[in-house]
Amino acid sequence: MRTQIVAGNWKMNCDLDESQHLLNALKQKDFSKSNAEVIVAPPFTNLYAAHKTLENSSIKISSQNINENDKGAYTGEISPSMLKSVGVEYAIIGHSERRAIYEESDDLLAKKVTAALKHDLKVMFCIGEDLEKRKADKHFEVVEEQLKNGLFHIDASEMKDVVIAYEPVWAIGTGETASPEQAQEIHEHIRKILAKQYSQEIADQTSILYGGSVKPNNAKEIFAKKDVDGGLIGGASLDADSFAEIVMSF
Ligand code: G3H
Repeated sequence: MRTQIVAGNWKMNCDLDESQHLLNALKQKDFSKSNAEVIVAPPFTNLYAAHKTLENSSIKISSQNINENDKGAYTGEISPSMLKSVGVEYAIIGHSERRAIYEESDDLLAKKVTAALKHDLKVMFCIGEDLEKRKADKHFEVVEEQLKNGLFHIDASEMKDVVIAYEPVWAIGTGETASPEQAQEIHEHIRKILAKQYSQEIADQTSILYGGSVKPNNAKEIFAKKDVDGGLIGGASLDADSFAEIVMSF
């Protein structure tokens, strides 16, 4: 019933040549054997070339960030309509690296969500607790607050264009993964929050991805969990074989 998704967040990796090389390698893979929608999020500089390279492919393109304004004096920023014009369909919003390193607040993220949806970009909205909050057993509250403050200003009708990515900060790039049971527990909790805010139907239709050290050797057991609808993959998305193996886990 829900769309299963495997998205590769390349972060600040790959110059143009490396990006084209990786995309061409991904294009050779037969993803038709997987049930998952496949998305890649290269850096801004590679998006247009990625769009051209992937023109006859089912692989979709996401940006890793957007600016919340339409246009104007925002030096160094990229607007949603600029991204649309180079073939981008999704925007990752609220990644923990944006929240922590660039101090993006819930208020700013809420504006970015509104801006993306206004320009018909689908949103991959990231949430997740850090190690301190996990140890204090506050992870359920953290994700609820992040959803309430960054996402729940949108209407129920807009939720069809939103995917949620749960990424515990302590599992990102650390090699430490949430266990499949930990992932299931919090994904189920997130779905309950969605049902409370919108409706059971919307909760049942919203894809919730897990991110944090997903690799070919652990993807299958994480994706097998009932409320895990796919993954947001960092490091392992930079290698075509590893990423393809993760996609094939569905
Ligand atoms: O956006 C992706 C996540 O930050 C996960 O990164 O797979 O390298 O842990 P990772």
